Amino acid sequence: MDASKPRLCRLIYFSSVSSHLQESDLDDILAESIKRNERDGITGLLAYDQFNFMQVLEGEEEAVNRLYLGITADPRHQDVRLIQYEQIDHRQFDDWAMALAKLPEVPGNYINKLYGGFKPQLFSTRDALIYFNFLRNYLKRAA
Ligand SMILES: Cc1cc2nc3c(=O)[nH]c(=O)nc-3n(C[C@H](O)[C@H](O)[C@H](O)COP(=O)(O)O)c2cc1C
Repeated sequence: MDASKPRLCRLIYFSSVSSHLQESDLDDILAESIKRNERDGITGLLAYDQFNFMQVLEGEEEAVNRLYLGITADPRHQDVRLIQYEQIDHRQFDDWAMALAKLPEVPGNYINKLYGGFKPQLFSTRDALIYFNFLRNYLKRAA
C-alpha cells in the first residue's frame, strides 16, 4: 500500500424513510448529494422504496466517515443501520457522484425472489453488495 495516499473505503447502510418524507425531498437529497459528493470525491448509489433507503458510499475514509455522521443525523430518515464498512483498494461504484434507484421501478431479480422484495434489514453484507451491482448495471443500461 502507498502510505502517502489516503485510504479508500466502502460503507453501506440502510434506514427507514421518515413518515413525512415527500417526493420533492428525494430530488433535494439527490441534488445536494451530487454537488457535495463531487466536491468531496465520494461516489455511490442510493436505493429507495417507500419504506427504506439503502446507500453505498465510496471514497477517502475521512470524507466517507464525516458524511456518514451527517447522514445518521438527517431527519428525513431514521433507524440508520450499518451493513458494511470495508477498506478497499479500488472503487466498485464510481459511475456517479450519486445516483438514485427508485424501487420498484427497477424490476426484480434473484435477490427480490430470495427475499420477497427490497428488504435491506434482511440482507447479508454479501447480498447488499450483489444488489448494488445489479442496480448499477440496471441504471447504466437504462441511461
Ligand atoms: C438517505 C439519505 C442519503 C443522503 N446521501 C447523501 C450523500 O450521498 N451526500 C451528501 O452530501 N449528503 C447526503 N445526504 C444529506 C446529508 O444527510 C446532509 O443533509 C448533507 O450532507 C448536509 O449536511 P450538513 O448540513 O450537516 O453539512 C443524504 C441524506 C439522506 C436522508
